[in-house]
Amino acid sequence: MRGKRVLLGVTGGIAAYKIAYLIRILKKQGAEVKCILTPASSDFISPLVVSTLSGNPVAIEFWDKKTGVWTNHVELALWADLFVIAPLTANTLSAMSLGSCDNLLLATYLSMKGKTIVAPAMDLDMYAHPSTKRNLLQLEKDGVSIIPAESGELASGLEGEGRMAEPETIAAHIADFFTIKDLAGKKILVTAGPTYEAIDPVRFIGNHSSGKMGYAIAELAASRGAEVILVTGPTSLKVSGNRIQRLDVVSAREMLEKVQQIWATCDLGIFAAAVADYRPETIADEKIKKKEETLNIELTKNPDILKWAGEHKLTTQVLVGFALETSDLLKNGESKLNSKNLNLIVMNTLKDEGAGFAGDTNKVSILDDRNNLTSFELKSKSEVAGDIIDTVMKYLC
Ligand code: PMT
Repeated sequence: MRGKRVLLGVTGGIAAYKIAYLIRILKKQGAEVKCILTPASSDFISPLVVSTLSGNPVAIEFWDKKTGVWTNHVELALWADLFVIAPLTANTLSAMSLGSCDNLLLATYLSMKGKTIVAPAMDLDMYAHPSTKRNLLQLEKDGVSIIPAESGELASGLEGEGRMAEPETIAAHIADFFTIKDLAGKKILVTAGPTYEAIDPVRFIGNHSSGKMGYAIAELAASRGAEVILVTGPTSLKVSGNRIQRLDVVSAREMLEKVQQIWATCDLGIFAAAVADYRPETIADEKIKKKEETLNIELTKNPDILKWAGEHKLTTQVLVGFALETSDLLKNGESKLNSKNLNLIVMNTLKDEGAGFAGDTNKVSILDDRNNLTSFELKSKSEVAGDIIDTVMKYLC
């Protein structure tokens, strides 16, 4: 959102207090923020808070009664890349749907050539009322995007649908609006997380993968317009956004089965999962009792899922693997690139501080099948996802 200009309209509902958090998130992400408050909303949030957090004067009235200075709503609308109205009360919603214009916020809405996004907030019966539904529908027809209200406890003490979406959710919608949809029309398979290979009903062989790297790739690809299928081993992570289809698996063989069902229909595969190379030969039916000093478990090789995908790759498909190493990063990475028939390999090593498992950062180098090597700095996993997808874009036709 760096440098993007977001005009934030605040109307008079209790959820107005949450706007302080939204401004902070937007500013942190690099957006420029200006705010318009309706006169009623300044009873719910102080203009001083809004102007301090946004770093800009707050616009409330058409003109300042003391100085006579006019606030130019047309200029505000032209300044904005995006107009976000949150919270949107039933009253302002109704006025917007009719095209009324008796305050600065409404005049600015009517002057807006760019996109408007609204986040309604009201009590559950008001939100469920046919006139509210009709007005929301009218706004949608007029090209406004609606961030639906959520369910939960309301200011009235009642529980139900009508709460304004959380600031993080609104910020995610705003970020999505500014994201270029250069992967629209592409179907992407992402593998993520560890696999668990059962020893008995209680224990398993696993690894430290949290899934964060793969999920960051899936979410970024989805926000850039791709249809994403995320085949994930066990993690506590959740996916956001409706362009990601999540398929949960536990073992390597289950992951292979899902990949085999999907791969032929995909344009791109990015395999970030940390798949167990071996699994116990047999799984004990009962919990293994503690008896002897040592316990031997016979292991057998798991299928190599990425290798299978490489063997079944069409000329139109692009396949990206990962290599996690503790030594000889480039040599081992290059060998995996060739032996698994990949287009690109993303290499990371546990020798680099902040790289690899579990944390929020990673440091990668990407080698392609034309021997181009690019090394990146330590970055957040979502920024690393961006570097990977930007590199892959050169391959996708
Ligand atoms: O999940 P995080 O906590 O965010 O950590 C991220 C990560 C360290 C797991 C990730 O950055 C990473 O390196 N993933 C690959 C880990 C791995 O298993 O690397 P490998 O070098 O053993 O495997 C090479 C490639 O073959 C990988 O793409 C792997 O998904 C794939 N593979 C491996 C074995 C196997 N049986 N089947 C496979 O598909």
